[in-house]
Amino acid sequence: MKKHEKEIEKPDPAILEKFQARTQEFQTLMTYYRSAIREVETKFQILADESALLNDRNPVNDIQTRLKSPQSILEKLERKGLSLCWENIENEVLDVAGVRVVCPFIDDIDRLAGAFLEQDDVHLIRKKDYIRHPKENGYRSLHLIIETPIYLMHEKKMMKVEVQLRTIAMEFWASLEHQMRYKKDLSDELIGKLSSQLRGCAAISANLDEQMQSIRNRIDQETIEQEED
Ligand code: GTP
Ligand code: MG
Repeated sequence: MKKHEKEIEKPDPAILEKFQARTQEFQTLMTYYRSAIREVETKFQILADESALLNDRNPVNDIQTRLKSPQSILEKLERKGLSLCWENIENEVLDVAGVRVVCPFIDDIDRLAGAFLEQDDVHLIRKKDYIRHPKENGYRSLHLIIETPIYLMHEKKMMKVEVQLRTIAMEFWASLEHQMRYKKDLSDELIGKLSSQLRGCAAISANLDEQMQSIRNRIDQETIEQEED
């Protein structure tokens, strides 16, 4: 399993200055979020290991994790008209800790999300199902905001984590769309045309997921029948 971990190594000094009065506090909070990422990543690795053992097939293609940068945290608080403090980050910035699970098939997403949400120490805060209800631009993924404990020396702390589950096809579309969204100096006419083409690509990717799932189901069915013989 590949692992890409983006972490803040050398934050922008201007941004750091805003955090300076609270450096210690901020570093503590970020350490807590990093721990929560580890907990959630491990939970999915365990589910993947068990499925690989039982079904001879890994339902997880890749797990990516990211800790939101100080700059992005600050921008989000400013957008919401909130000041920079521990409480506001914890209560209002729900995606400081991010875990993205990329699966081969659509069914893998439902199974993994189901097993994950059933765990005693995973509490669902918010769910957005952009797979059953894709966004206007064609974006698909299952988004969960959950809360899970981390165990410190003298206390247990509940931490929020944003989990995104998507197929390889969804990841392919989303990562290319994300790259292109930053090209701003395009005419409105061109943007309109490209958006519609991107929606078309999203439809093709959704169709690809359906067909791949149907092939998978056929293989599984055949395997069961052979085992019964
Ligand atoms: P944010 O402030 O963006 O976090 O909004 P939100 O809390 O309403 O979150 P939502 O669940 O809608 O989306 C959060 C994350 O999903 C984003 O940060 C992206 O990683 C991803 N995402 C949502 N919409 C899109 C999209 O249209 N394209 C791509 N490529 N990614 C998206
Ligand atoms: Mg976000």
